[in-house]
Amino acid sequence: MSPSVFAPDRRSTQRATARAGSNIAFIKYWGVSDPVLNLPLSNSISMTLADAYTTTSVEWDTRGGLLNDEVTIDGTRLDPRRAERIARHLERMRVLASVSYRARVVSQNNFPMASGIASSASGFAALTVAGCTALGLDLTPTQLSALARRGSGSASRSLFGGYVEWEKGRDDASSAARQIQPPDHWDLQDIVAIVSAAEKAVSSESGHLLAVSSPFNMSRIDHIDALLTEVRSAIATRDIERLGVVIERDALAMHAVMMTSTPSLLYWQPGTLEVMQAVRQWREQDKLPVYFTIDAGPNVHLICESAYRAMVVDRLRALKSVEQVLVSKPGPGPILLDSHLF
Ligand code: PMV
Repeated sequence: MSPSVFAPDRRSTQRATARAGSNIAFIKYWGVSDPVLNLPLSNSISMTLADAYTTTSVEWDTRGGLLNDEVTIDGTRLDPRRAERIARHLERMRVLASVSYRARVVSQNNFPMASGIASSASGFAALTVAGCTALGLDLTPTQLSALARRGSGSASRSLFGGYVEWEKGRDDASSAARQIQPPDHWDLQDIVAIVSAAEKAVSSESGHLLAVSSPFNMSRIDHIDALLTEVRSAIATRDIERLGVVIERDALAMHAVMMTSTPSLLYWQPGTLEVMQAVRQWREQDKLPVYFTIDAGPNVHLICESAYRAMVVDRLRALKSVEQVLVSKPGPGPILLDSHLF
């Protein structure tokens, strides 16, 4: 009898599970200067979310039985075409660790995928941490952030908790995020008004490539340093009014770029406008300090301090086009839930 029946193959499984929060950008990442490395045209700033996260397990098949990577998201096994972006990211980890074996990935979001909360940010952050840990790669948070960026730009920011800035950098190593303030610095809330849960027609991955075709793109980028300075300072001094004015301006500038690119990207639905108009009315008529931002989709993120959360949620629920409301506070960076290096 082979001794391996009694003595387990000590390197047969390398598995780890990580959880990472999604994030909402206050100054957006839109457009790439290098599509292969995913280098952005500008810095961006976001808040990592505590209550919208992805939990991902990666198990590397060191025995070589698996011929292809296997990916299951929210209970559904992805076909090779849909799993391709994840397989490309696993390949980056294989290259770093100089291994060739395939992986089994199981990923679960605690929020609906088409909710307007970025599952690619939390998903690629959790995948990077779990995959690298299971391979025994000893990377710093900055290196993990740069690696996560290759999977999805916004994932680079989910490698840190609280308030985070992604430095555009000059090359693969220098384009990474860093924390600018911890989660408990300021109890801001991200309140998402879901006006359509339909899957978006154009992914942000393809959208980034179109930004350069808009005549407004470089104008937005030329003005962005001043907005980044304003947002850093508004966060440091916990000034919601200063923050709010700038985040609305940048979200609208990004959507102007989207709408005027070729082909044109129009993510808004009638409900998107209903929510934007309502937010401005609550602010002007009722002095409610709440501001909006919108990612690459129709749903609207409302940003306010926690004291106003209940009032904003109640008002949103009363709007006719709002189907669902999701709320999150600032959260931590990725957490390793278990790891087995047998
Ligand atoms: O990381 P991606 O490729 O999903 O792009 C994110 C794009 C926006 O959500 C619209 C903006 C941002 O900075 O998160």
